[in-house]
Amino acid sequence: MKLLKIVSFTILVILLIFGVLFYTQVYDYARYPLKVDREKFPNVNTEAEIEALAEELLDQMTLDEKIEQLYGEPQSSVVKLAVNLFLLKRFPHMYIGRNERLGIPPFVLSDGPRGARVSDDFGGATVFPVAMSRGASWDVDLEARVHDVIAKEIRGIGANMAATPCINILRHPGWGRAQETYGEDPWHVGQFGVAATRAVQKHNVMASPKHYALNSIENSRFVVNVEVDERTLREVYLPQFRKVVREAGAASLMSAYNQARGEYLSNNAYLLNEVLRDDWGFEGFVHSDWFFAMHDAVASIKAGLNIEMPLSQVYNKRDIKQALSEGEITTGDINRLILPALKTRLKYAFAEDQMHYGPELLVTPEHVNLALESAEKGMVLLKNDGVLPFTAEGQQTIAVIGRLADVENTGDRGSSNAKSPYVITPYEGLRDYHERLGNRVVLDDGSDLEQARDVASRADQVILVVGYTYEEEGEYLVSTENMKESAAAGKLIGDKGIGGDRENLSLVEEDRILIDALAGSNENLALVYVGGSAVDITEWDDRVPAVLFSWYAGMEGGTALSRVLYGDVNPSGKLPFAMPEDSEEYPYFTPYTDNISYGYYHGYTLFDKQGIEVAYPFGFGLSYTNYSYSNLQVLTPTLNSGGTVRVQVDVTNTGERAGEEVVQMYIGFANSAVERPVKLLRGFEKVSLEPGETSTVLMELPVEELAWYNPDEREWQVETMAYEVFMGGSSADQALLGSGFVVQ
Ligand code: BGC
Repeated sequence: MKLLKIVSFTILVILLIFGVLFYTQVYDYARYPLKVDREKFPNVNTEAEIEALAEELLDQMTLDEKIEQLYGEPQSSVVKLAVNLFLLKRFPHMYIGRNERLGIPPFVLSDGPRGARVSDDFGGATVFPVAMSRGASWDVDLEARVHDVIAKEIRGIGANMAATPCINILRHPGWGRAQETYGEDPWHVGQFGVAATRAVQKHNVMASPKHYALNSIENSRFVVNVEVDERTLREVYLPQFRKVVREAGAASLMSAYNQARGEYLSNNAYLLNEVLRDDWGFEGFVHSDWFFAMHDAVASIKAGLNIEMPLSQVYNKRDIKQALSEGEITTGDINRLILPALKTRLKYAFAEDQMHYGPELLVTPEHVNLALESAEKGMVLLKNDGVLPFTAEGQQTIAVIGRLADVENTGDRGSSNAKSPYVITPYEGLRDYHERLGNRVVLDDGSDLEQARDVASRADQVILVVGYTYEEEGEYLVSTENMKESAAAGKLIGDKGIGGDRENLSLVEEDRILIDALAGSNENLALVYVGGSAVDITEWDDRVPAVLFSWYAGMEGGTALSRVLYGDVNPSGKLPFAMPEDSEEYPYFTPYTDNISYGYYHGYTLFDKQGIEVAYPFGFGLSYTNYSYSNLQVLTPTLNSGGTVRVQVDVTNTGERAGEEVVQMYIGFANSAVERPVKLLRGFEKVSLEPGETSTVLMELPVEELAWYNPDEREWQVETMAYEVFMGGSSADQALLGSGFVVQ
């Protein structure tokens, strides 16, 4: 009897499990077509016809079908998501908004900022250095090429929408996801955002720049409210979003988790409707960040949040129907959300592809080469007391020391965790580099300090690798409840977990002790820092003769590192943020808060304004050659508000090696009648110069880029006055030549 009970119970459980798996279609990993069946719509060709079709299809939808357009997949798909993600190790691409009856193809979203997010079935994608490294390359053409590859690989796995680029502003280097963006300056980030968005969309992939907006703190991201005044919002935290919308025609934006001025971004009518749609003319759609962003269906519908991702948690049929029957919303409100999303999706679904996309596009040798080039161009040499480049001769012993020396360390393991088939670690890169010379490359993890010092002192060259991994910084996952508790308490409650913000900017203790132990052990020592943004560098930079920021350098990082250290590649990266002498000088930041104020100044604008000593300026980076600047000429000494400022400068490679220099242009506002930064970056270009070569670099800037946002008049205004213009190789005053022009 007992046995019978056990057997029937077991059968019941098994049936139940199968029932759930069947109901939630866990097994369904089909790849649905992304294009429309043209035979179904033979007379639709032009953009106007596509728009008209979207309206017709909307008319034909039942209420249930309409509501299904408002979310990724039904809530029950959470099982499918979890089983695929955690058990089957495949990133389940969700087929959003697909309606078979009406012939509407879905959008299928893939992360992310350092490479396509590919399930293990595909064997990996090309993993690039993190966006901060690419920001440090100051090479927007390179960024376009990188995102061209990301887009191709995304299409190769059957997706047509990309949760990249991340264009939030690095307000404070402690921000855990700093590595996913390009730097601290809205102009610089905007140029990269535009290049990335355009490149992605060329492949008929809908770009979804994120996270709109004010998302520059991680450990409180689901709850924190950001207070910000109108000028700060418009001039500091939004310009790069405005650019990707207006200049790159971003198909979509991902809304942020946090609140702004007391309203969650997912239901922030001011930011979603007034700013984004009314002011900027955005015609695409906004979808929420995943799982924890949505709070109130009615408020989000009214505010214009088009699609809840990834599941119907808040935009669900029951609540929406109830809100309709109680008159809180109308079908007109719902139609207004569906239409732009449908129009955009159909435009992409009708668009002809310029090539065939398939999994064979993943990790091609060409893509891998680009990952290498990108890593090389992003590395920033901050200090060099004549030790670098190391000489590569035979009969040498090279010591590679540190707990990160032989770690596959491509960055955060949150949503941006693209995986490649292999990763070249620093040690592997150096070992392979020296193989052809027959040199000995010794690896030491630095855990035994005496031994490490001994190894270092016997070597011809020492490469000391310090920094962070996904454990110390990155995306932070914790329940909203835990996050709320910590935010309310202003300190961590419970376990810290993995990733998140850095509470202080010091290196981990092991690294600091190791630097002390190796200091003075060998005059040919280079410290390599791996991380996503700034570190408390003045704690140790005087103890080592050379410092190279390698960032999380991607799948070919170790190869790039050896080529930079040994001079096959001349370093050309420059810091996309400033590092003060004293880290206390950064704006106030805490990972645990439910309310924070973002001020008008941060980064170099703050340090400039307050005359704060900077250890390493924004835009600074050394090379193995030298550059000199001369002959700054303003070609447009007076202009009117519709004009274009034209300024040129000669830059000469005065050293003995070929190299690439990042020429920067800043505009100064000393004569302004309103509060303004001392100077702002308004142009940059990377030029390649042979030894002795001079190049004349011309920069052009529409006068409207000089505007400030007048909150009383609610408009951008260009002051008629004399402006200063500075050009040079970094934001440091000593590095800049100055002149001026007048806008009248
Ligand atoms: C992240 C987004 C990401 C999304 C989907 C979220 O947790 O904040 O940046 O695109 O997950 O993976």
